[in-house]
Amino acid sequence: MARKNSMIRKVVLSSLFSVGLVAGAQAQVCSDTELYGHMQTLAENLRPVSQAIRSNDFNQAQPLVTEMLAAAQGAQQETPFRFRTGASEDDIANYQRAIQRLVDEFETLSVAVNNQDAQTASTVLRSLSEMRRQGHGQFKDRTCR
Ligand code: HEM
Repeated sequence: MARKNSMIRKVVLSSLFSVGLVAGAQAQVCSDTELYGHMQTLAENLRPVSQAIRSNDFNQAQPLVTEMLAAAQGAQQETPFRFRTGASEDDIANYQRAIQRLVDEFETLSVAVNNQDAQTASTVLRSLSEMRRQGHGQFKDRTCR
């Protein structure tokens, strides 16, 4: 039974991986990927959200945070361009874990903004730059600008 479960796990993981690989393979350059688009959404909203929270304008921050949360969730469906020619199960699992943490942060941010909790919101915003630094170090292709 354990052996059968392990077989099933392998088949499921490898088919998930194939889907990601096909999606990545369609892009010729990094900036053509869906993931790149989601990342741009994150980048475009970061400063306006920070500014809105700094001036305690939670109504302005709210829809922007919702958009960022959706972009992070979109990134969960993608595979980095860096893995276009192949990736190990560990690579994929590490990427999924890192993106899950990003989604969790935006969920926390969304609750904080709803509660007009500027302190928690600022803590989340500070942690995002470290996540970006680490995420890009591990998963962003060298050709990706
Ligand atoms: C708020 C946090 C983040 C922002 C604002 C952000 C922003 C961006 C931007 C603007 C790009 C386009 C290339 C560039 O200008 O550098 C990009 C690419 C990329 N980012 Fe992020 N990023 C964030 C977090 C993350 C995290 C946590 C990960 C990984 C877990 C990640 C993975 C990637 C990858 C893999 C690419 C290349 C696109 C591709 O492979 O298709 N980013 N990001």
